[in-house]
Amino acid sequence: MLTTATTPPLAERYTAEFTGSKARFEHAKRVFPTGVTHDTRMMDPFPVYVTHAKGAYKWDVDGHQLVDYFVGHGSHILGHCPDDVVTAVQEQMGKGTHPGACHDLEIEWGQLVQKLVPSAERVRFTGSGTEATLMALRLARLFTGKPKFLRFQGHFHGWHDYVTVSADPPYDATTVPGVPDAVAGQCVAVPPNDLNAVEAALKADPQIGAVILEPTGGHWGAVPIRGAFLKGLRDLCTKHDKLLIFDEVISGFRVSPGGAQAHYGVTPDLTTMAKILAGGLPGGCCAGRADVLAYIEPRPGKPKMKHPGTYNANPLSAAAGVATLRRIATGDPCRLANEAGRTLRNELNALFESRNWPWVAYGDFSMVRVVPNYTGERPRPATGDTDGFVPFGGDVNALDGPKDMKLVFALRQAMLLNGVDWWGLAGMTSCAHTPDVVNATVRAFEASVESVTAEGLV
Ligand SMILES: Cc1ncc(COP(=O)(O)O)c(C=O)c1O
Repeated sequence: MLTTATTPPLAERYTAEFTGSKARFEHAKRVFPTGVTHDTRMMDPFPVYVTHAKGAYKWDVDGHQLVDYFVGHGSHILGHCPDDVVTAVQEQMGKGTHPGACHDLEIEWGQLVQKLVPSAERVRFTGSGTEATLMALRLARLFTGKPKFLRFQGHFHGWHDYVTVSADPPYDATTVPGVPDAVAGQCVAVPPNDLNAVEAALKADPQIGAVILEPTGGHWGAVPIRGAFLKGLRDLCTKHDKLLIFDEVISGFRVSPGGAQAHYGVTPDLTTMAKILAGGLPGGCCAGRADVLAYIEPRPGKPKMKHPGTYNANPLSAAAGVATLRRIATGDPCRLANEAGRTLRNELNALFESRNWPWVAYGDFSMVRVVPNYTGERPRPATGDTDGFVPFGGDVNALDGPKDMKLVFALRQAMLLNGVDWWGLAGMTSCAHTPDVVNATVRAFEASVESVTAEGLV
């Protein structure tokens, strides 16, 4: 849509177009705090309500077909509702959702994790990614005998108390509302990509037993992390006798079949996974060294970590996970999703340059971000999975600091009006994001940036 002086404001157009969603939100506000059921679904003036999804698309209650860049919060690298995963889950549904017993699918699921993920000598399934990082940190405390861990500013590891410090700006805050200071105090946070800061922190605090990170960068690559840093971190952890934990809840089975660790050839001691692991159903796991996961076993003279969990390795998630990981093992889904991500970044940058707009796209693998109000050097078209380009010198506060939410919501409304559900200033691709889908997305960006610019938001 061409924006003119007489075009109504975005919020007005969005409200007029998405009336079914608006009506539903009126009910939802009286049920849920904020009206939504996940913080990132908050949206001004109201979120979009979806009825069904397939491949790269989802459809809302008003009948709009939308290209989806949320991809199930990163779970759907195969696209929505892949036939093989749907069939596997439907068949399992008829056989039982919870036998309260061991079953064949959990073995096959665990073996697929072992086959694909280099660090996975042993695997323990959990109900979610949050539970997986909770387990990894507790296992690390048991194994090392040390209570503290080191983490990186802006890295997200779920919402349990231990990992809340420095997950969001302001990154120098050492307390989090609702989290006991004694718990928050077990976490030491340093900026990403700074090996000197890591070593200084490890030397300064002998109570640190483990280091945890998102190996492709916090909030799935807002400040990208690449191989040289991971190798340096592995060396530092080995040198100082610390456990290295890769949180591959997003990067696992996405950047490559074996995650970031396989792509970069750096093996952590423990790995946490979820999302693609369970093929879009709830589920997670903590995998890693057999001698560390051995703390889940009862052994004479050793403490045992208690680990129940009603939905651990539940058969529906196992069925979806097995069907998904079998396809991941072919390598095709990761390759195609990465190609879609690279094409989208390159085409967006070509658009921004041709229109001389102060925007830039960046990211690695199948993760794509756009930055408004950018006037620095323009990147050259990328040919690989990691582009070598990072705006603002990788500064965490510039790239992952507080956002202008007025602009974020306006861009989201504009993209929705142009047939795309784009996740704030970022999005992830699946193997269903074909070149045609990517091309339509670039056209939607062109119209949307025109709109937000016309409203004086950039
Ligand atoms: C890197 C990372 N770790 C952990 C989690 C938490 O996983 P879950 O939402 O399954 O609890 C997430 C969720 O987005 C994540 O991105």
